[in-house]
Amino acid sequence: MNLRPEPLAFELSSPGRVGVALPKCDVPASPVPAGLLRPELRLPEMDELTVVRHFTRLSQKNFSIDTEFYPLGSCTMKYNPKANEVAASQPGWKGAHPLVADERNQGSIELIWRLQESLKAIGGFSAVSLQPAAGAHGELSGVFMIRAYHLARGNPGRVKMLIPDSAHGTNPASCTMAGLTTVTIPSDADGGVDLDALRAACDETVAGIMITNPSTLGLFERNIEKIAKMVHDAGGLVYGDGANMNALTGVLRPADVGIDVMHFNLHKTFSTPHGGGGPGVGMVGAAPVLAEYLPGPIATRKDGTYAMAMPSKSIGRMKAFYGNFGVLVRAYTYIRMLGEEGMRRLAESAVLNANYLKARLEKAYPIKYPRRCMHEFVAMGNFAEGVHTLDIAKRMIDYGYHPPTIYFPLIVPEALMVEPTETESKETLDAFVDVMLKIAEEARTDPELLRGAPHATPVGRLDEVAAARCPVLCYRG
Ligand SMILES: Cc1ncc(COP(=O)(O)O)c(C=O)c1O
Repeated sequence: MNLRPEPLAFELSSPGRVGVALPKCDVPASPVPAGLLRPELRLPEMDELTVVRHFTRLSQKNFSIDTEFYPLGSCTMKYNPKANEVAASQPGWKGAHPLVADERNQGSIELIWRLQESLKAIGGFSAVSLQPAAGAHGELSGVFMIRAYHLARGNPGRVKMLIPDSAHGTNPASCTMAGLTTVTIPSDADGGVDLDALRAACDETVAGIMITNPSTLGLFERNIEKIAKMVHDAGGLVYGDGANMNALTGVLRPADVGIDVMHFNLHKTFSTPHGGGGPGVGMVGAAPVLAEYLPGPIATRKDGTYAMAMPSKSIGRMKAFYGNFGVLVRAYTYIRMLGEEGMRRLAESAVLNANYLKARLEKAYPIKYPRRCMHEFVAMGNFAEGVHTLDIAKRMIDYGYHPPTIYFPLIVPEALMVEPTETESKETLDAFVDVMLKIAEEARTDPELLRGAPHATPVGRLDEVAAARCPVLCYRG
């Protein structure tokens, strides 16, 4: 920890100091338009080096996967290879104007087409669209597609989406935004979907089910084929939330187990940057029954020529132009680097790493559904008197780790959701276990230490809701 007090930009200001030397003015001076210069807006006056140090110091306050282990469950904070960035920064990709005609933009459209083909193969889909900008945006697209399908078949009364109680919050939100009503299906004692409850909910008003596999409990839904059949038999469709594809690439194709439409978060599984709501890509893939409803345009190839085209019954655009094209270049680079074999090893290593951590930690951190996990596991942080998951998460910051996702999924009390990803070494995992065991010991012997954490940061416990909703963004010295 740096014990020197950290100056704020305004405190570094010195009257009259400047960071630039402008050439002598060689045009007649004209007054600054009224209202542009406001005396109440004070600006710090400083030299260039002070400015550089200030912003560099600020940038180092960010926590990032390039600096530390980031086991944020459900977010797949894997390393994003730098080769992706090199590819995305090629002038041909970067400089292409979004309004250029298809015949003069063959390279970009070919890349979109190739990526579509790769993702079709990974998911077993008959078509995919790269339009949506995030997982939640993909969900919304998929639910629009399901709704359009039922309306086209003369079934306006199919308005009910079934959603397991372990689901990510975006699932019910997307369905509600698409105008459907949601029905929560409870989990059984094993952490899977309760089949009796599902059977009871399957009636002629069902539009479909939205199911995450592996679930947000980090568990594979063993009854997925039975569940898909039950919903199909009732006339509904199956939406797969593919945010957790990191556990399955090259191992299982979701379309093979009855998924009709699904999103993949390219900004998770396919190693493109994510955070702050994007920019990402929540590609949607569809089985034949829904392929023509996909958002568009999508890339097509005929006689070696590429073009962007709308599927025949498309729900329309979800994003301007090609969507987040830079993300597509990165994901394509990653898939080509790994190849088919690499895709499988990615998933196997992600699952192995999570099970290794779980096996080493489960004596100290109880697990509600203790069966073998997939790419992540959900522990509980309420094992010591007076200590909560929040305290454990805050104490992890003192040891230089980004806390895992906490208090989600909602069906696990005091949840602590750990996702190591495949890109971490055994040494990193072991160092993390050592710290977690130490914190578990501290929780028993010195609970006050945890309740006051973090101790090594410029600020301690914040009002997190207020910090997010009403951030103080200007200096009030
Ligand atoms: C299981 C699950 N579904 C959906 C989403 C939403 O994805 P996005 O954040 O890209 O909108 C997430 C995001 O964390 C997720 O973990």
